[in-house]
Amino acid sequence: MIQHDWHDISEERAFALLNELDGRGPRYTSYPTVPVWKAPVREQAFLNTLHRLGQDNHGIAVYVHLPFCRQRCLYCGCNAHITHEAARMNRYMDALEDEIRRVASEFEHPVRHSQLHLGGGTPTYIPAERLARMLDLLIDSIPGTPDFDRSVEVDPRVTTDEHLSLLAERGFRRISAGLQDLNSDVQAAVCRVFSFEQIRNFIARARDHGFTGVNIDLIYGLPRQTRDTWHETLKAVASLRPDRLACFGYAHLPARMKHQRAIDEDELPSSRERLNMLFEAHRVLGDAGYVGIGMDHFALPDDDLTKAQTRGNLWRNFMGYTTTRGLELLGFGCSGISEFRDLFVQNIVQPEAYADAIEAGKWPLDRGHELSADDRATKQIINHLMCNLEVSVPETSVETGDDFSERVRAAMEHISRYEETGLVERVNGGFHVTPLGQLFVRNLAMPFDGYLSEQQSVVFSKTV
Ligand SMILES: C[S@@+](CC[C@H](N)C(=O)[O-])C[C@H]1O[C@@H](n2cnc3c(N)ncnc32)[C@H](O)[C@@H]1O
Ligand code: SF4
Repeated sequence: MIQHDWHDISEERAFALLNELDGRGPRYTSYPTVPVWKAPVREQAFLNTLHRLGQDNHGIAVYVHLPFCRQRCLYCGCNAHITHEAARMNRYMDALEDEIRRVASEFEHPVRHSQLHLGGGTPTYIPAERLARMLDLLIDSIPGTPDFDRSVEVDPRVTTDEHLSLLAERGFRRISAGLQDLNSDVQAAVCRVFSFEQIRNFIARARDHGFTGVNIDLIYGLPRQTRDTWHETLKAVASLRPDRLACFGYAHLPARMKHQRAIDEDELPSSRERLNMLFEAHRVLGDAGYVGIGMDHFALPDDDLTKAQTRGNLWRNFMGYTTTRGLELLGFGCSGISEFRDLFVQNIVQPEAYADAIEAGKWPLDRGHELSADDRATKQIINHLMCNLEVSVPETSVETGDDFSERVRAAMEHISRYEETGLVERVNGGFHVTPLGQLFVRNLAMPFDGYLSEQQSVVFSKTV
């Protein structure tokens, strides 16, 4: 893995390219991307997978979606639901526990988890005792491997000491807190107010409880953000030395996310300003000793993600970057996604509709996709590109067919045109993505995508 210095990239040049390439495209957290998946899913395909899980003695990754939050942040693009009703949360937790029991009853081999992640919404908005009950059932049904890794996403504003202790007692060592921005004008514009002292205290509390991996989420491209306010936020957050940081580009999709319409579009930074902010993140965090992971994540040099990236072994699934390649993922809860070797499945998205299905004794599956040989080979190329910044075409069998070969040939030819522009450099039979090219990595992945032409009606977020 070649490391580059972000101070060396010309912003003018990047901006000129942005004008040329600025477009919308998938984020490639999966391939084929979720809009390609179809309903209904073949239930038998899902059951067959549950039956074979554990056969190979490999641990799996488990994701649990807990969708509730106390209040709405206007930028939010997650499957999050605001409630103050205990009954609504309890009904959901009952359904979730039922789903865990039913999935586990289909196993024909001992299944263990090497990763467990709680995401949301806000998992720690669930009352501590109720969360503990679900976790005990889950860990009993799918125990951890000896080297398990358990992580949780939290909104620090609602996370109590009781939550932190129960999670720590159950082996959680990584915690990811949403902060987004520290500037008070930006915070007011997105209805998410939290001070520097509060986040500093929160990190200290998490460490006191035994969390050794602390991640902070930030977003650039929010209303009222300027390069200067963003610079201040980055400096302040870096001074707290979280182990990892994520800097997500704000995905503004008001057609799909109605609450985002409350954001004044005149206050949103331009594409150029967004690009400046991404550069600023690489510079400020680079100067503070962080290593860029993929496009928008940062980690300290001795972090496992940094080491995996150096070895060219970084991988990604729906839970984000991971150090283990090819872990199968089992998702629970509304909108939970499972990513198996040859099958993707997503649960029903809306929490009440999900609970209705479980209560009616049905599998809460919404849509999915059975991967062909072409899909699997393309997924390999795109994932390797997105994570390890290399375009290389694996040896493929005849099974993939002519469509695949022709598409890959055309994609490689397309990418070779970016050599002159400085987005890629040729290396042994493939290409390495330069730091400039890293800004456009989604554009580099798109020519390999076999489904883009049939997705004209899907609205994607900006590629940069
Ligand atoms: C499930 S959410 C957060 C966890 C927790 N509920 C919180 O708000 O602190 C995970 C992260 O997604 C990011 N995020 C949410 N909406 C986004 C959007 N529209 N564009 C980019 N990032 C977004 C935020 O950084 C957020 O912390
Ligand atoms: S950002 Fe977090 S707390 Fe805010 S609405 Fe989304 S999931 Fe809930």
